[in-house]
Amino acid sequence: QKASSSITRFPLIPVRGVPLMNHIANNWDSIWAFRPDPSDLLIATYPKAGTTWTQEIVDLLLHNGDAEACKRAPTPVRSPFLEIFSPPPIPSGLDLLEKMDPPRVIKTHLPFQLVPPGFWENKCKAIYVARNAKDNLVSYYYFDLMNQTQPEPGPFDGYIHKFMQGDLSWGSWYDHVKGYWLEREKRNILYLFYEDMKENPRREVERIMRYLDLSVSDEVISQIVELTSFKNMKENPMANYSCVPSPVFDQSISPFMRKGEVGDWKNHFTPEQSKLFDEDYEKQMKDIDIPFRTLI
Ligand code: A3P
Repeated sequence: QKASSSITRFPLIPVRGVPLMNHIANNWDSIWAFRPDPSDLLIATYPKAGTTWTQEIVDLLLHNGDAEACKRAPTPVRSPFLEIFSPPPIPSGLDLLEKMDPPRVIKTHLPFQLVPPGFWENKCKAIYVARNAKDNLVSYYYFDLMNQTQPEPGPFDGYIHKFMQGDLSWGSWYDHVKGYWLEREKRNILYLFYEDMKENPRREVERIMRYLDLSVSDEVISQIVELTSFKNMKENPMANYSCVPSPVFDQSISPFMRKGEVGDWKNHFTPEQSKLFDEDYEKQMKDIDIPFRTLI
């Protein structure tokens, strides 16, 4: 009760130009100073690009497909969220990490330039998952409706403009996907696409397995693909964020496992909104060629 009464839609404060929730901004120095172990794995995404899905795949790969082992705790306990800070008594990501022995699987939404430099100094492995801008936007819009710690999304049309301007929590989608893309070779980052995972989950699970220098049987791969289907994760209480109390994540407004598809943006953008968005996209992405697909 006490925790929920202090939950509010937190204002955003810029950290080196990137809007972050006030509790993150206020604790920035300790986040930036975080020293991972070289064996730790970073899973980085812009919010709503497929983070939870990737965390589940990785946990299953590390446990040779053992479904029960991967139900030992909810996602954010198994794989802490590096920069998250809420008012006490909710533990921060750093609190959880401190109590865990490496190797740890660490989630972040920080753009590349805000990732604590210890990750690169220690040559940690990192998986980045990118999702096409329009579906990412729609997913974030529903998330902001239901997540009572995020700023109010307001009407959808205005939300499109906030997204284009980089005014949402964790900043610009455009800068985010570009930042990791430009560093992927130098930093040995595995850069994945949500659309590829939907199109051929087995291929992408195998790609993650090779990147992690793991080797699991074909049978176990099949099992992991099955356990991480949208339907199964939606029903899995250790993966569907039912662990977060409803005053914080009001899943009656929109479930965390909402739709899980490519192309849902077509049900939300009007043709005019889509045209305007595409014109702006061309400008913002003209300096780079990242092979995004808005349909599969
Ligand atoms: P939608 O809102 O489009 O349904 P994140 O984990 O980064 O917050 O991303 C959440 C998005 O990924 C949501 O998208 C959610 O439904 C989708 N998602 C989660 N698990 C998935 C799975 N196993 N398969 C496909 N999509 C999944």
